[in-house]
Amino acid sequence: MRSWGPDKRRWSASGGVALCALMGLCACGGDSGGGDGVSGPSSESVPVVRPEAVTEVASQGVELGLPDGDWGSNALSVVQDALLGTWVGGPEGLFVERSAGFELVDAEPVNAMILLEEVGVLVARADGLWVWDGASLRITSLQSELGEGPVLALAEADGVLWLATDAELFVYEGGQLAAFEGIEAVVGIHAAADASQVVLTQDDGALSLLRQDGDGWVWVSLEQEPASAAVPAANGRLLGLDGDALIERVSLGDGQVAWRPVALTDSPDDPGAAGLEALASDPQSGAVWAVDSGHIAKLSGASVERFEKPEALGTVSLAQVSQDGILWLWADGALWRVGDDGEVVGFATHIEPFAQANCGRCHAEGGVAHHLETYEQWSDEAAAILVTLEEGSMPADGQPLELGTAQLVQRWIEDGLEP
Ligand code: HEC
Repeated sequence: MRSWGPDKRRWSASGGVALCALMGLCACGGDSGGGDGVSGPSSESVPVVRPEAVTEVASQGVELGLPDGDWGSNALSVVQDALLGTWVGGPEGLFVERSAGFELVDAEPVNAMILLEEVGVLVARADGLWVWDGASLRITSLQSELGEGPVLALAEADGVLWLATDAELFVYEGGQLAAFEGIEAVVGIHAAADASQVVLTQDDGALSLLRQDGDGWVWVSLEQEPASAAVPAANGRLLGLDGDALIERVSLGDGQVAWRPVALTDSPDDPGAAGLEALASDPQSGAVWAVDSGHIAKLSGASVERFEKPEALGTVSLAQVSQDGILWLWADGALWRVGDDGEVVGFATHIEPFAQANCGRCHAEGGVAHHLETYEQWSDEAAAILVTLEEGSMPADGQPLELGTAQLVQRWIEDGLEP
């Protein structure tokens, strides 16, 4: 893993090329806030946005036990990666999933957390911005570039990183850090998968939108519009909630926009989905998940996949999609993982590189210990290997693990010891 921070990359503090391009920020743009003629979904003849295909899928949700505590649902972040494992951060600290459940790594409250490819997990706390690379937490020097105050929200899409402190919103892209002056108190950032738009939630609940426009960004306040929550979807779409109804912001041309009801079934009489509890967007694919009292639906483009909500799953107060496309639901004090049919851990793809990096110096030809190199050796000893990794007795020289943790071996076992 590369180390990450100003010492390895060139950063420019608020200023420079990227910022100049942002100067037009609040001033103008075809899609500006107040001037929009927004027509709500009240008119009777409002066309409903309908899916072209609806499939019913069977998918299981799994309830995960989190330690008791004050898990404020809005401050919960989940990160999952085949190599790094599953991490949950929130007011109770940073936790990792082990075979026996979630285990506390560090009790310092986590404001926000995100997985950055080839870097690790970026963890925002009151005492700075940290990187967790699977073995240790390291402070980054990025915090000092952001000025006073801790980072409260994070998002990443297509190589563009968003960070918000109480005072300012920042974007980091292509080696440039730029600040958006005048956008304060952002506590939630949802970035579209293609990085073309970002939905911001401020601490008073106000929603706004940043849309890419040429080299800069145009800021659009959604305060006069009906959506009480909104998430970006693929192809520049924006879906939202009007109370518990699913709506989509549609451009009518000439700067006019309207919010239209969105149906999740293929019935021509469907007036649009209602009774929604939560909405989340997939930061990789741009798919949007919508949860109501009986169903969980995934909208990808014009098609919808729908499955029944597990009976034990209560009322959902927060939905989040990790970068591997898995949906996480916070419901009645429990965390659920839904649709985890993600990447299977295999020996050739994951375990062999892990073994070479961490065990080969002793458990291979010329080493001091018995051979642990082939699929047969690893699968015969899988259970004993997992125990040594969980105890931390291996690697015997105490060097930090690379390319994975005990969780990788655990998933390999659970996935059926794939070759
Ligand atoms: C610095 C040397 C060293 C490294 C690195 C190392 N081991 Fe070992 N390991 C040993 C020695 C020495 C023994 C005891 C002799 C033996 O069992 O061959 C041992 C024994 C074991 C055993 C059997 C012990 C038991 O309690 O059943 C397992 C399983 C094991 N190692 C797994 C691993 C794995 C997996 C890695 C890599 C993640 C690893 N070791 C890395 C030196 C090392």
